[in-house]
Amino acid sequence: MSPLPFSACAAPADRRQWLRGLAAATLASTSLRAAPTPEITLRFSHVVAEETPKGLAANRFRLLIEQRSGGRIQVLIYPDAQLYGDHDEMQALQLGAVDLLAPSLSKFGRIGFPEFELFDLPFLFEEVADVRRITQGRLGQRLLARLSHQGLVGLGYFDNGFKQMSANRPLLAPADFVGLRMRVQASRVIAAQMRALGAHPVTLPFSETRRALASGVVDGTENPVSNFWTQRMHEVQTDLSLTEHGYLGYAVVTNQRFWMSLAESDRALIGQALREALAFGNLIADTQNDKALAALHAAGTTRIHTLTDGQRARLARAVEPVHQALANRIGLQWMDDLRQALKQRLSG
Ligand code: LMR
Repeated sequence: MSPLPFSACAAPADRRQWLRGLAAATLASTSLRAAPTPEITLRFSHVVAEETPKGLAANRFRLLIEQRSGGRIQVLIYPDAQLYGDHDEMQALQLGAVDLLAPSLSKFGRIGFPEFELFDLPFLFEEVADVRRITQGRLGQRLLARLSHQGLVGLGYFDNGFKQMSANRPLLAPADFVGLRMRVQASRVIAAQMRALGAHPVTLPFSETRRALASGVVDGTENPVSNFWTQRMHEVQTDLSLTEHGYLGYAVVTNQRFWMSLAESDRALIGQALREALAFGNLIADTQNDKALAALHAAGTTRIHTLTDGQRARLARAVEPVHQALANRIGLQWMDDLRQALKQRLSG
C-alpha cells in the first residue's frame, strides 16, 4: 500500500498516520529486497519424521542452501511421506514432480538395482566405520554411478544406524521369531533374513507400518530406534530387542534431467551444501538413536532387551545362509568386491 502524499494530511494526527504508512511501505520494500523471489526451488521429499537423522540432515541442507544462495535457491521439504511414500516417490522423482529423495539403500533393489541390497546383509558390518569403507570407496561410487541407468544421479550416502527388532515379545533367539509376521522394506535380502529366522516377511511402505502394527496386520518389525520412537511404534509394541543385526542408511538422489538443467555453479553449491548436511547427519545419527532410546526408557511402554554376545552369535548363525543364498541376486562380482573391501578393513 503506498501512503497518501503528505500534502493531503493536514492535521498532526494525519501526519503521524502518513509517517507510519511511509515507514510501513519502506519496511515492506526493504524486506522484499532482503528476500528475493527464489529462482530455483528444490522439492525434497522423504518418509520419516523431522526429528530423525534424515529429517535433521534435510533441514540442515535447506538452511545451508538458503543462506549461501541468499534466498535465490529455495528448498521445500516434505517429511513423513506427506507428498509421496515408498510406492510412488521414485516415480515422482523420475517424472520431475519432486527433485530430491533420500530413500534407504534397501529400496533400490525394487527399482532395478539389486546390488544395493548388499547393505542389507545381516551381521555384515560391525560398526558404521565398516560401512564407510564401502560408501566412501570405489565400490560405493560405482554403485551410485549405476543409478544413471534409470535417469537418476546419486549425490551421496549417509547413515541412520543399526536396526533393532521389535514385536510383542522378546526376540532373543531364532525360536522367538517363528510364525511372526514381520514388516520389512522392499528388499529380498531382508525378506530372506526374516525367513531364515522362521518369520513371515510382509513388505509394507514405512508410512503404513505403525497402523499395520496397531491393527495386528503384522506382529513386529525392524528399524533403528529413532524411526521406532518418532513413529510412536512403542505404543503398539511391548518389546524392543537390541539386536543390531543390520545397517540402515540412505542415498540422496535427484533426476538427471533436472540436475543437468542447473548451472554448473549451482550444482557445485548444492553439492557442497549436501556434503556438509550429510556429514552433519552422520555426526548426529548416533545421538538421535541414543536420545530415542532414552525417551523410550522414560516412556516405560516397551521392555528393552540387550542381547548377550552368545544370543547375537546364535542369531547371526541362523541368518548366515542368506549371504550365500542371495549372492546371485546381488551379483557375484559385487559380492566379490564387497569381500575385498571388507578384507581391507580386517588388514587395517
Ligand atoms: C523403512 O522403510 O523402514 C526405512 O527405510 C524408513 C527410512 O527412510 O528411514
